[in-house]
Amino acid sequence: MANAIEPIRWKSDRLELLDQRLLPDQLKYIECRTADQVADAIRDMAVRGAPAIGCAAAFGIALEPKESSYDILAKSRPTAVNLFWALERMRRAVDKKAEAEAIFAEDLAVNRAIGAHGAKLIPRGARILTYCNTGALATAGHGTALGVIRSARDKGISVIACETRPYLQGARLTAWECMQEGIFCNFITDNMAGHLMSRKEIDLVIVGADRIAANGDTANKIGTYTLAVLARRHALPFYVAAPLSTFDYSIADGSLIPIEERPASEVTGYRGQRWAPEGVVVRNPAFDVTPAELITAIICERGVVQAPTRERLQPLISTGV
Ligand code: MRU
Repeated sequence: MANAIEPIRWKSDRLELLDQRLLPDQLKYIECRTADQVADAIRDMAVRGAPAIGCAAAFGIALEPKESSYDILAKSRPTAVNLFWALERMRRAVDKKAEAEAIFAEDLAVNRAIGAHGAKLIPRGARILTYCNTGALATAGHGTALGVIRSARDKGISVIACETRPYLQGARLTAWECMQEGIFCNFITDNMAGHLMSRKEIDLVIVGADRIAANGDTANKIGTYTLAVLARRHALPFYVAAPLSTFDYSIADGSLIPIEERPASEVTGYRGQRWAPEGVVVRNPAFDVTPAELITAIICERGVVQAPTRERLQPLISTGV
């Protein structure tokens, strides 16, 4: 399938990023000519989603291959390990532009492989609940969890897209991507998921990941853990789809994954409109960790790891599954 939605466009002397803060109302690209500008775009969520963050950071180095660029980009967001994975690859590369292009091209190929493996797990006519945005917008193209849905679309599937409070990636991005592609999508607020599960209106859950620890514990958008608990309560499969660039074997379990805290203003209101009382004390963790025991399977480009554990994930590093 053609790569219709292009979140990242590399123009050799500049990086063009589809400004995801303006979606779905405006399709506008911002131009980055320095590593600083790319770091700002990542920090301010113009580009977001773990693999897309990694790709953007790689192009940031290609634009300005100097030592300080690595530090600036590494400080942009803490949780998605793809950022640090891409920076490490860029550090080792001799031809920075070629390497950034390779990272981007590989991500697209990897997502298609994840889609093909994952589609085999999707029953015909499945009603699939997904969370946040894991589509073309969050990657070099095609997507991870939403990529599996794309790859399974011939099976007559439908999507239930959760709003994803507080930043609304599900509402603004996933619902929009589904509509762009003609994939039937029921859009719900996050607190409706349990009710729909209890009424047997959902067949499975599939989400992406920002960092997967060596034992399979998975950090993803805040609210993912709640869905995993609900899925277990209702005996529904709960799948995680992510590339190997999202695996962090240096971290033994999910308790060690750094969780980003974002500004209070994202919780107290939206786009300048405040609905919570001024001065209220706010928590805004952007991610949570789903323990491996709640994950039915992890889908990556090398295949499917059922009931993930440290022992089952270990072979992925070298030999595949
Ligand atoms: O804060 P975001 O929008 O960058 O968070 C995105 C997610 O949590 C995605 O589920 C994850 O990065 C996987 S994207 C393929």
